[in-house]
Amino acid sequence: MASNSWFTLFLLVFVLSVFAVDKNNFKTCEQSSFCRRLRGITEGESKYMLDLETLQVGEDTIEAKLINVEADIPFKFSLTAISGNIFRLQVDEVSPLYPRYRPQNALKGEPQVTKLEVLDRNKESITVRSGNNKVAVYSKPFKLEFFEKEQLVSVVNGRGLFKFEHYRSKPKENDEEGEAQQTDEDPGAWEENFKSHHDSKPRGPSAVGVDVAFPGAIRIYGLPEHADSLALRTTGSGGLEPYRLYNLDVFEYEMDSTMALYGAVPVVYAHSPKGTVGVFWHNSAETWVDIKNSKDGNVMSSIVNLVSGTKTDNSVEAHFMSESGVIDMFVLMGPKPKDAIRQYASLTGVAPLPQFYTLGYHQCRWNYNDEDDVTNVVENFDAHDLPVDVMWLDIEYTDGKKYFTWDPIKFAHPDVMINNLTATGRKLVIIIDPHIKREAGYFLHEDALANDYYVKNKDGSVYEGWCWPGSSSYLDFYDPKTVDYYKGLYALDKFKGTTHDVYIWNDMNEPSVFNGPEVTMPKDCVHFGGLEHREVHNEFALKQVIPTYEGLIQRSNHRRPFILSRGHFSGSQRYVTIWTGDNAAEWSHLAASFPMCLSEAIGGISFCGADIGGFFNNPDTELLQRWYQAGIWLPFYRAHAHIDTRRREPYLFNEDVRNRIRTALRLRYAHLPLWYTLFWEHEITGDPVIRPLFYQYPDDANVVDIDKELLVGSSILALVISEPGISTTNVYLPGGFSEYWYDIEDFKLYPGTGVYNLPASLDKNIAFYRGGSIIPRKDRPRRAASLMHNDPFSLYVALDSKKSASGTLYLDDYQSFEYKNNKKYLYIHFDFKENTLTSKLIDKTDYPTKEWIERVVILGPPSGIKGAKLTSKSLGTVELETSYDGEERTLTVRKPGVSVREPFSIKLY
Ligand code: NOJ
Repeated sequence: MASNSWFTLFLLVFVLSVFAVDKNNFKTCEQSSFCRRLRGITEGESKYMLDLETLQVGEDTIEAKLINVEADIPFKFSLTAISGNIFRLQVDEVSPLYPRYRPQNALKGEPQVTKLEVLDRNKESITVRSGNNKVAVYSKPFKLEFFEKEQLVSVVNGRGLFKFEHYRSKPKENDEEGEAQQTDEDPGAWEENFKSHHDSKPRGPSAVGVDVAFPGAIRIYGLPEHADSLALRTTGSGGLEPYRLYNLDVFEYEMDSTMALYGAVPVVYAHSPKGTVGVFWHNSAETWVDIKNSKDGNVMSSIVNLVSGTKTDNSVEAHFMSESGVIDMFVLMGPKPKDAIRQYASLTGVAPLPQFYTLGYHQCRWNYNDEDDVTNVVENFDAHDLPVDVMWLDIEYTDGKKYFTWDPIKFAHPDVMINNLTATGRKLVIIIDPHIKREAGYFLHEDALANDYYVKNKDGSVYEGWCWPGSSSYLDFYDPKTVDYYKGLYALDKFKGTTHDVYIWNDMNEPSVFNGPEVTMPKDCVHFGGLEHREVHNEFALKQVIPTYEGLIQRSNHRRPFILSRGHFSGSQRYVTIWTGDNAAEWSHLAASFPMCLSEAIGGISFCGADIGGFFNNPDTELLQRWYQAGIWLPFYRAHAHIDTRRREPYLFNEDVRNRIRTALRLRYAHLPLWYTLFWEHEITGDPVIRPLFYQYPDDANVVDIDKELLVGSSILALVISEPGISTTNVYLPGGFSEYWYDIEDFKLYPGTGVYNLPASLDKNIAFYRGGSIIPRKDRPRRAASLMHNDPFSLYVALDSKKSASGTLYLDDYQSFEYKNNKKYLYIHFDFKENTLTSKLIDKTDYPTKEWIERVVILGPPSGIKGAKLTSKSLGTVELETSYDGEERTLTVRKPGVSVREPFSIKLY
């Protein structure tokens, strides 16, 4: 057999075996030495003491020595007040044997400090205040209590699980006489094996951890990415593993699981109708988090109540455990979900406004076979009046999985293909993975070897692992020279065949290593500056996408980049869109798309979607249609499928199916102005684009476990139907009698009084407009979003119980940075009250748009309206035509014809 065939056979066997992965290929906490060690700490009095005699009080920070009483080791403790109702608690070694790592890019910059005032100070404790918040810091046992006004909302180290393993030299195995030493250390503390993999741990144990309680909270959310419910469950009982944050490529991941997935966002929000508090655990090493929730009937730690003297019936607790790094945690004091989420955004940043087209529909599969295939797919979309904005190419477009190259036969004329595509208003996204094929003659590999761009083994040699191309090495994005080089690879004259209309998909960047421990890079690999992979693992994907982003800006500084990344970490939102990875064509995976993306959204990453149809296996047409319908309401709307699946482009199905998918796609496109406005508002405020119900209705205890509904901004409530064969479904409409909800298709009104059982045939798109909102739409069907830029708006004015409503609309050139650089945008406020709709500019900016108002549709209209008058500066006062539809369910005002650029009023009479 030729060596090539051996290689293919090997790869096939290897891939098949790796792809048969089950849970056993990933560690449990018990199989992970540091998790075992930290989880094994007995609750009780903390072994740490804060030496208040060393206390130093600054303008914004208090500092003192923290002592591990048993080992007599000193640490630096500090508590800092951060602007916007945040406290930062840090503990580090005083003089570590090796530098302790802090993530480089999760924070958008150094957090802004604010004044801290000492309220009380004695031998046992010090109490400080910042704004409305107070922190009591106790010396022995070491503990912190956080108060919002006078209410105790969080206790750090109340259970005494605080741990900081200082770096130390490896104890000798034999004493001077050569006798074996007895040690009570965990057997995996200094080196660890998992399956056939050995972790040499050259620096020994270095874990950090602490418990945090949230008295009074009834739920806790966060810690994406997990294929689990939005509300975190109690771990430990019933064998549920702690939530694991360790970016991993998990084949056919399971539902209802706390197993690690591709991304790690270590933030939690503890919530009750009384208030919401968050904790951001700023650490990029492998992390496990145990959760206890009183709702799950657990015996609560009595210590919190005992020591704090606060008797609370409800509480949730989180126990953070990381393998290395320092303790650096931000307590986000809320007091409402919106505040806590904004506080997190103020630290880690927001997603910059994406281009308009990115919010349209994306058509992907592994793979479109060749240039003709790409062209045919788009032609078929057009022939069937199905809108699509972006075609995607997966790994097979490359020349033998060598990124930044094209297959010389199947993609011999990429520029021609791309130009044909973009001539129809479409874009192309192509995949670029972080592993580099080790092939002599491949320019990238040669450059990387010659210039020392690769990640190393612990002995300094270049690390080699297996991925799609076979033997591969991994660019070290911690090395500034690699970063510079990498940015340059995206330049148009370097990446031949690409144009300004080509965007990027950075996949497999956990990083995925097929033959590595747990399908990733060994922890004792070394990055630039002597960083161990162990310390930076969860940040690696973020480190790749930063130069991708900057490379795209360098390439065309007049287009906003679009990058899809699979691996992600806190802060990734500043650069990329994410998706939930390799899901399956199963109803449970469709259901999970809502809570998974909601969890990301409250973790700062709003631009999230799930592969429509499911990546693995073949969906039946019912599942596929429901998926297109639900996907309308997630920010990233892309269909994708595994190479072994049957083709499933929507035009391939019968007319009924096609029609329903077309309706779904058109609904999506009609709402693009709303999505775009929400992304703008996200950039300004940090508010998530999609929201769980508890975010908007924090006082309603009924919504805390709702996973199948979400809100788009504050104006649309959407439902995912995730069961086959149903003709009705239950939907919970919040807000009480005075909150109105209008079915978005027939505009029927439902007061927000709770659960409705509604018809749910396959023809029905179930979503509601909230009374009180004005939703800007573009209703003219087009082939692509890029062709909608100049289309007129329809305003859907959904009246509340007081017959009023308001809303916003943002627009600009939909693609460049002019909105930022030269304030070339319009941000408009619409208001409807006393039968008059008015518009005004929120910011003093301008954009010379051609867009105008084509129609105003009033839902729940006043009765007896005979006509409408428009008044604006350029048009004066003109009479408009009105008509009631559907037994006065709506009132339509036709052709106001006024430009959105100028303020106007429309008075109904
Ligand atoms: C893994 C990704 O999750 C999937 O979407 C992609 O199709 C394959 N890699 C092949 O590139």
